[in-house]
Amino acid sequence: GRVAVIYGGSSAEREVSLKSGAAVLVALQRAGVDAIGYDPAEGGLVGLEALNPDRVFIALHGRGGEDGTLQGALELLGIPYTGSGVLASALGMDKQRTKLVWQALCLPTPESVMLEANADWAAVVARLGLPLIVKPVHEGSTLGISIVESAEALAEAYREAARFDARVMAERFIKGDEFTVSLLGDMVLPAIRVEVPGGFYDYEAKYLSDETRYHLPCGLSDVEEAELGELCRRAFDAVGAEGWGRVDVMRDAAGGFWLIEVNTSPGMTDHSLVPQSAAYAGIDFEALVLRILAATLE
Ligand code: DAL
Ligand code: MG
Repeated sequence: GRVAVIYGGSSAEREVSLKSGAAVLVALQRAGVDAIGYDPAEGGLVGLEALNPDRVFIALHGRGGEDGTLQGALELLGIPYTGSGVLASALGMDKQRTKLVWQALCLPTPESVMLEANADWAAVVARLGLPLIVKPVHEGSTLGISIVESAEALAEAYREAARFDARVMAERFIKGDEFTVSLLGDMVLPAIRVEVPGGFYDYEAKYLSDETRYHLPCGLSDVEEAELGELCRRAFDAVGAEGWGRVDVMRDAAGGFWLIEVNTSPGMTDHSLVPQSAAYAGIDFEALVLRILAATLE
């Protein structure tokens, strides 16, 4: 049957999604799948229904695609789709409520507080220490995120994040190394350590820079990598995520892992992490998209 690859959309991550979707579409077509691309920003749900797809490959990122709303619409239309369902998608898009679930299960995640325009900035700093991270609760690709080095900079960081989202949080900064773990069906793929020379893994480092280094193997011992993989599997399952996704983690100087977030529709661009990890495990891009698609029939 026909597969619609949904990409683009109207979130702040539209440009990333256009790249993810184009890569997925080419790979499916190359594999002989009757696949067609569709941008909901152009034709909405009505246009999608008119295509009459048998299945949907979701290559949207952010709100309106990764957050459960599209998943709910597809449930009502009776069209199977890739990845997580309504609840996990909605929860994964909310970085703060994801933490509440992890904390309830005693999974490690950095402490956070919600910010408001009239917050007591000094109290936030006293609680979380400096530096700290300010981020929009429902955003991806590091949009709107700042590392705050002083109490004076906090209000400005809040305003920057608030441009993206009505809900903004401050999070304790974990000094150490950044890892990401991709999950594909029952498999935990090899962890990647991301290194940004002299910087921070922001939008530029993710999609534009050629200096960002992706360490595969990640440099952990086998025992540590197994511990990290197990933690990420539990974190993924805790929010009810399914099919495939990616969990981002920090490792502190003492070797402790801290869960940062779960991405239920991660990037599939040529700079993206899931395809790199899959390739290292011997699963090329075409095989990866076919596996993600096959899970819609389970
Ligand atoms: N939010 C981006 C697309 C990612 O997690 O890969
Ligand atoms: Mg994300």
